[in-house]
Amino acid sequence: MTVGQSPELSELFAPKSVAVIGASNRPGKVGTSLFRNILKGGYQGVVYPVNPSSPSVSGVRCYPDVASLPEAPELGVVIVPAPAVAGVVDELGKAGARGVVVITSGFREVGEAGAALEVEVVRRAAQYRMSLVGPNCFGVINTDPAVGLNATFSGSLPPTGRIAFVSQSGALGAGILQYGIAERIGFSRFVSVGNRAGVDENDLLVALGKDAATRVILLYVESLADGRRFLETAREVTEVKPVLVIKSGRTPAGERAALSHTGSLAQSGRDQLYDSLFAQSGVQRVDTLGDLFRFAKIFSTGLSMAGPRLVILTNSGGPGIVAADAAVRSGLELPPLPPPLKATLVQRLPSIAAVSNPLDMTADIGPNTYRETLAALLGAADLDGALVISTPTGTMTAQDVAQAILDSKKANPKPIAACLFGLSDLSKEVAFLEENGVPTYTFPEEAVGGLGALARYHAWLTRPHTTVRTFAVDRAAATAAVAKARAAGTTVLAEYAARSLLAAYGIPFPKVETARTIDEALAAADRVGYPVVLKVASPEISHKTDVGGVALGITDPPSLRAAWDSMQRSLRAAAPNARIEGFEVEAQVPSGKEVLIGVQRDPNFGPVVVFGLGGIYVEVLRDVTFRLAPLRTLSAEHMIESVRAFPLLKGVRGEPPSDLAALAEIIERVSQLAVDVPEVVEMDINPLIVRAQGHGAVAVDARVVLSPPSRGGPSA
Ligand code: COA
Repeated sequence: MTVGQSPELSELFAPKSVAVIGASNRPGKVGTSLFRNILKGGYQGVVYPVNPSSPSVSGVRCYPDVASLPEAPELGVVIVPAPAVAGVVDELGKAGARGVVVITSGFREVGEAGAALEVEVVRRAAQYRMSLVGPNCFGVINTDPAVGLNATFSGSLPPTGRIAFVSQSGALGAGILQYGIAERIGFSRFVSVGNRAGVDENDLLVALGKDAATRVILLYVESLADGRRFLETAREVTEVKPVLVIKSGRTPAGERAALSHTGSLAQSGRDQLYDSLFAQSGVQRVDTLGDLFRFAKIFSTGLSMAGPRLVILTNSGGPGIVAADAAVRSGLELPPLPPPLKATLVQRLPSIAAVSNPLDMTADIGPNTYRETLAALLGAADLDGALVISTPTGTMTAQDVAQAILDSKKANPKPIAACLFGLSDLSKEVAFLEENGVPTYTFPEEAVGGLGALARYHAWLTRPHTTVRTFAVDRAAATAAVAKARAAGTTVLAEYAARSLLAAYGIPFPKVETARTIDEALAAADRVGYPVVLKVASPEISHKTDVGGVALGITDPPSLRAAWDSMQRSLRAAAPNARIEGFEVEAQVPSGKEVLIGVQRDPNFGPVVVFGLGGIYVEVLRDVTFRLAPLRTLSAEHMIESVRAFPLLKGVRGEPPSDLAALAEIIERVSQLAVDVPEVVEMDINPLIVRAQGHGAVAVDARVVLSPPSRGGPSA
C-alpha cells in the first residue's frame, strides 16, 4: 500500500474535486478526450483543467498550473509528457491533493531512463502521502450516479452495475469497457493499474472488498505484484465477495539454483503454482474473457447456489443434452428427480415428455407448463438451482417464457439461469429477466458455466475452516544441521545431514545404525529388525551400487554374514583406496506407494510446498501440485486429492487405502520446516513410501539445498 492511501481509496473513486493536468482542446489528444469524458460522464464533483497554453478547456475555465487552482483538488489526473510528470506530482502534493492518476507512458516499461523517472514520481507521491495509480495507465471509473467519474480516455461511461474490474492492461480494459457498453454489462468501478508503481491489485482488492456497490471483483493480471500478500488479501476478500481472475503471461522466476527435482518442476510448473495460489485463496481462475464476464454476470445478481445439484428444464432435447454435458464439465451434478416429484410431473406433463434430469417437456407446451413445472422443481429440497432453456416453438412468445420464469421464481430464492436458445432479437426479454435477477445467456454451456461458478463459490464459503497445525519439533537439531553445512561451506546437504534435518521435523526415516565389524553389524541388525539393507558409508564413494556397496533384502544373520563378506571383496576390488567410515545397517523399507514432497522458495511467493507422484517417473508425468506454506490441514488433504494418482493412494482393485492421514501430516510438517528454516531453498523427499492405512509412511531419499550463506535467512 502506498504511504497515506486510504483503505477504501475514496480519493481515487469518489474525489470531491479533480484537476486534469494536461487537459487540452486539441482534437485527437489524450488530454482532450479524458477531460471531455469527465464532463460527459456527469461528474458530480468540481473539475479543473490545468494547462498553461489555454484560458479554457471545453468551455471550462483553465488554470496555468496547480498552484493557481482556487482549491486543492482531491485527485490529480496527469497527462503531461513523462519528463514533466514528477514536477506535476510535486505541485499536486504541495497543493494538498490526496491521490494522483498518471496516464502518461514512458516510464519503467521503456527501460532504465523511464524507470528513473518512475522512481522520482513514486518518491514525490510518497513524500506527500498521496495514493498513486499508474503511471502508464488508462485511468479510473466510478459509475455511481452520485460520483459519475470517467477519468479515462475511453468513450462513454459503462452502465452502472455491481462488477468491479481491475486491469493490468490498459488496452484490454478499454476494449472490455466498450464490450460492456454494447452488452449492457453494468460496472461499479474500473481501474487500470498500469505499472503499479503505487496502488496495486492487492490494495484494490482491499478497497473493492469494502465497497458496498461492488458484488464481484474481476482481475486481469499478467503477474502479481506480491504473491504472498495476494494470498492473504484474497483469502479475506473472498469471504465477503467472489473474485474472478484471468492470469496471463509469466512472473520473472528470479534467481534459482535448479538442482533438485522439485526445482525443475516448479520452474516448469509456474502456471500450476498460480493455479494453486488461486485455489488456496478462493479466487476463481477463468480461462477466457468471455467466461470472466459470463461468470461475473451471474455473481452480480447476488444469487447464491447452496450446492452443485442442478436441474435442467427444457422444451427441446438437444440443447438439454448439450447443457447436461457442460454442467458436468463445470462441476455440477444432475441428480435424478425425487420419485414423488417425478410421479406428479409425469401426470401433469404431456405423455411424450422425458421426465428426468434434464427434463424435456417437449415443444408442445405453453407458459403455464413452464411456470408450474419450474415452481415444482425449485421446491424440491434435493435440487439447488435450475437452468431453463427455451427454444422457439410457436406455442408461446419469449415474453411468455420470461414471465413464467419470473412467476415461479417469486416463491423461491434458488438461482435460475435462463437460456433463450436460438431466439433472435430478445433484448427486451433479456433485460426484463436480468433486471429481475435471472441472468440470461444465448447458449446453454454459458449458463451452466455461470451456475458452476456460483456453486464453487458457495463451496468455498462453506468449506471446513481448519488451522495451520504447529508440531513439536527439534529446532536445535535442525539449526545444528544447517550450521554444520555452513561451517563446511556446502549448500547441498550430505545424505545424513539432510536426514537429520528432516528427522528433526518428525519426518520418519527407516531405522539405521553404523557398524565397523560384522559383530557390530549383527547386533545392529537385531536392533533395527530384519529384513535389513547393508550399505557402505564412505565420503569417497558416491555411487555405492557401482562398487557393490549395497546389499538389499537381508533376512537373517547368515545372509548378513554372506552379504558382509561379499561386500568386503567387491570393495577391495572396485574401490581399493576409498576411505571407508563404516557400514550402515538399515531397516528395509516395506512396500507402499511412492510419492514426492518438496519445498521451493520462490522470489514472489515465498516458501512453496510441492506434492506429487514420486519415484523415477515424476519428471515425465508431472503429476504434482503446489501450495504456499504455511498450509492448513485442509490444504494438505486437497493436495493429496488433487493429483491424478490419487485413486492409487485411495486404493484400487481391492488394494487397501494408503495412510492418507500420515501423509497429510508429513506434508504439514514439511510446510512447518519450510517456514521455520529460511536457509532451505530447495528440498525434496523422493520417494516417500506411503504404507497401508494405519502403517504410516517412510522417507527413503532426501535432498536439501541451502541458500548461499550471504543470501540466506538468519545464519545459524
Ligand atoms: N502542466 C500543465 N499542462 C502541461 C504541462 C504542465 N506541466 N506540460 C504540458 N502541458 C500541456 C501541453 O501544453 C499540452 O496541451 P495542448 O494540447 O493544449 O498544447 C498537453 O499538456 C499535452 O502535452 P503535449 O506535449 O502536447 O503531449 P501529448 O499530448 O502529445 O502527449 C501524453 C502527452 C501524456 C498523452 C503522452 O506523453 C503519453 O504518455 N501518451 C501515451 C498515453 C498512454 O497510452 N497511456 C497508457 C494507457 S494504457
